[in-house]
Amino acid sequence: MAAGRTAELQRFIDGTEAAIMARAPDYPDAMAMAARIFSALKTKGGDAPGNPPARQEACRHLEQALGKAHDSPGPPGPIAELADAFAALEPEFTWHRRLQSAQEPGGFHDNHANAIIVGKGGLEDRGDALIGVSLVAPDIQYPRHRHPPEEIYLVLSPGQWMQNDNPMAAKQSGDLVHNPPNTWHAMRASEEPLLAVWCLWLEN
Ligand SMILES: [Fe+2]
Repeated sequence: MAAGRTAELQRFIDGTEAAIMARAPDYPDAMAMAARIFSALKTKGGDAPGNPPARQEACRHLEQALGKAHDSPGPPGPIAELADAFAALEPEFTWHRRLQSAQEPGGFHDNHANAIIVGKGGLEDRGDALIGVSLVAPDIQYPRHRHPPEEIYLVLSPGQWMQNDNPMAAKQSGDLVHNPPNTWHAMRASEEPLLAVWCLWLEN
């Protein structure tokens, strides 16, 4: 455990690492970045400014999404453990809306929420890696976007995912979505809320 980090945050980081590494054989192209992120996270970053915990309207769907993740098919595994770690840490999250979300169509503004776990604005301040979570209400689409940093999404509760403007494809709990730099991507919740962890490596 990284010195100075709370047990709850360490459990969340360990759970995210375990869930991503459990799928290494299926996503070999994502593993170099994952290794860089979790190697860096062996050392604690800076103290965060202590943003007050906050929730958004969409958080009314959180319990259902975590339940879906926890009870995903198959024997208990890393996603169930990560769902428990998520629930234990979540009271500290400063849930916020995506920048300029009010301009997005389709009810997106009031039907999504993001939180940063490690990185600028998160529970641990650091500039090398960014880990956050997104919650999307049923039948709502998270806008198409892209960014220079490479990214891995870890799917906690199932939904639809788009890459490179290909058709949306269903992803299940535990699946990864690996976005090389500047890949256009989006996601859409089905009839149940979508919950995912995302990890970006900011140094190249
Ligand atoms: Fe993204």
